[in-house]
Formats: sequence, C-alpha cells, structure tokens
Amino acid sequence: MTASELRKLLQPAAEAERLDLYARADAVRRARVGEEVHLRGLVEVSNYCSRQCHYCGIRADHREVTRYRMRSDEVLQCAQLAVKLGYGTLVLQAGEDPGLTRDAVAHLIRRLKSETPLAVTLSLGERALAELKAWRDAGADRYLLRFETSNEELYRRIHPPLRADAPDRFTLLGMLRDLGYEVGSGVMIGVPGQTFDDAARDLERCRELDLDMIGIGPYLPHPATPLGQRPPSAAPDQVPNSEEMTYLMLAGVRLACPATNIPATTALATLNAEGGRTSGLQRGANVIMPNLTPMEYRRCYEIYPGKRCVSEPPEEYDARLRAQLAALGRPAGCGQGASPNWQQRRGIAAAQ
Ligand code: 5AD
Repeated sequence: MTASELRKLLQPAAEAERLDLYARADAVRRARVGEEVHLRGLVEVSNYCSRQCHYCGIRADHREVTRYRMRSDEVLQCAQLAVKLGYGTLVLQAGEDPGLTRDAVAHLIRRLKSETPLAVTLSLGERALAELKAWRDAGADRYLLRFETSNEELYRRIHPPLRADAPDRFTLLGMLRDLGYEVGSGVMIGVPGQTFDDAARDLERCRELDLDMIGIGPYLPHPATPLGQRPPSAAPDQVPNSEEMTYLMLAGVRLACPATNIPATTALATLNAEGGRTSGLQRGANVIMPNLTPMEYRRCYEIYPGKRCVSEPPEEYDARLRAQLAALGRPAGCGQGASPNWQQRRGIAAAQ
C-alpha cells in the first residue's frame, strides 16, 4: 500500500468503505497469521517510574500513586498461573524503574526460562544497552517499546527525555533488533495534537521498522496528568481517540504489516468492555494479553482511568475470554506464538 492509500483508509468516505476495510484486514489476518488467538499473560511488575510522560497516570510526579515492586517469587507465581491457564508467553511490564536492576531482572528471567516453558516478553521502558543485552543473554525473547507517535515535535512535547543525550526510541528499537529480540512497538491514537497525516505516518513507520508486534490503543486522558488536564483539541485534522478510530488504525496496521502480531489492547477494552476486544480480533488483531497482576496491585497501575480488568480475577477473565473466542470460532493459540514476521526474519538470518 502506498502512503496516500494508507492516509485515505483512515478517513473512509462512507460506511461501506469502512466495512470493506475491516473485511480486508480480517482476510489478511486470516491468510497471514491464521485463526489462532495468542494469549499472553501480562504482569505489571512495578509501577515505580522515573519519567514524566505527560499522558501517563504512573508518571514520577503523580504522588497519589501507591508504589509497589513485585518480588521474584510473586512473579514466579504469576508465571505458574500463566502455565496453568495455557498461555505461552509472560509479559513483564513496568514503569521505568531503576529499582529493577540489571542483575535482578536477569536473575528473574533465568528462573522463568528454566522453570517454565514460557516465552518472556519485557516491557520495561528505555533502558541501557548493557541491560537490554544482559536480559537477552539471560533468555528474554521479546521486547515491547512503543514509539507512541511518529510526530517528533509532539513526541518531545509529551515525553520529556531523562537526559539530553539519551538515544531516541527508534535507535533503541534498532538496538533491540540487533540484540536478537522479537521487537514490538506501536502508538496511541487520538493524542491531542495528532493529525490524520501523523497517524498515516505512524502506519508507515511501523512498516519501515519491520516490527514483529504492534500495539495500538486509544489515548485515554488521565485527570492527574498535564495532558489530561488540557481541553480536548478542536483542530479540524485532530485524530479522535474513539473506538472507531482505533479499529481503523488496527485494520490499517494489519494491511501495512500483514505478518505481525497485533493485540486487541486493554485500552480498547476500556472504551468498550463488552465488545472492544472481540471487535478488534475481527478487524486485524490476533493477540490478547490477559492481566495476571495480583489483584492487590492492579488498582495501583492506573496508567489511564477506568482501566479494564482492575476487578476481574484471572481465572474468571480466562473463562469469559474462552467463551468469547469459541463464539467467534477462533481457537486459542498453542505454544509461544512468535509472529510469522519474526520466524521469517530468523529463517533468513540462519540461512546466511
Ligand atoms: N492512554 C492510553 N494509553 C496510555 N499509555 C500510557 N498512558 C496512556 C493513556 N493515558 C500507553 C502507552 C505506553 C503503554 C504501556 O500504555 O502507549 O507505551
């Protein structure tokens, strides 16, 4: 698809065009990544954060947040639960927490990899090359780091750097790739100041980066953040942070990056508790990340308000999810569920 085609599909002129886009995304999803829905257990291991991202509810300056950092044995218990529920991957997500030291995380990864059959995905923010390397050496399989928006000026505005000389997220994504990680990134949809041209550029960026996983979720204003306190933008080319807009982006990203893994995100489920995730699965997505964070920590990980899954225990959510998948006629994935994009990349590397 050309850049102008991508731009065009984000603003369909008529309902029929929109439905046609969803049908195409669903067909490409089926042909390229299959019917399986891969399940990844998400554990929010720490909400300490040294950053001041203007959109995020666990930013360092938000003093009302009760901070926690899980112990290794607590994370291992979550991993056992993931295995019991039949999930193939554990995702360790946290704020940018210096208390999650290189050695402690490496040790945890080694234990997870030796005591379970799980793939381990890290989502621990912008970390030093030595840390990313140590964690990869310890056996981590994947790393998630969203670039949030391809509009550099907007990105700088909402995401103050910790140090002026820190590598930007695109540089980090390149480093992760060189280290041999399966690499995931993505954006928020409808950040104030994000235009339709920006969103089309986001899709192109995803394609250029040749990502293995792409997470797309609506921006949800948090009242305790600088961006959440700003009135919504009334600019005519402002991308809405709506459910429908998220589906358009999901479908667009499936067409732009056909062989990648795409989750139906928690942020989408927050906009539509009943149908958000299942509609996402019918419009390009092929991954769900059920939350396995112990119940006592969940309400402390409020990156945006009303976050779905704060009150539902993992076993209950799992039962509901499996019923939904059965109704859609989609099997839950078996094994670790690496993306075809990654498998192909690795195959090429092995042949060289
Ligand atoms: N609304 C929606 N998504 C958010 N994230 C952080 N804050 C918000 C918000 N207010 C997303 C970012 C981050 C991911 C972990 O959560 O895209 O990369």
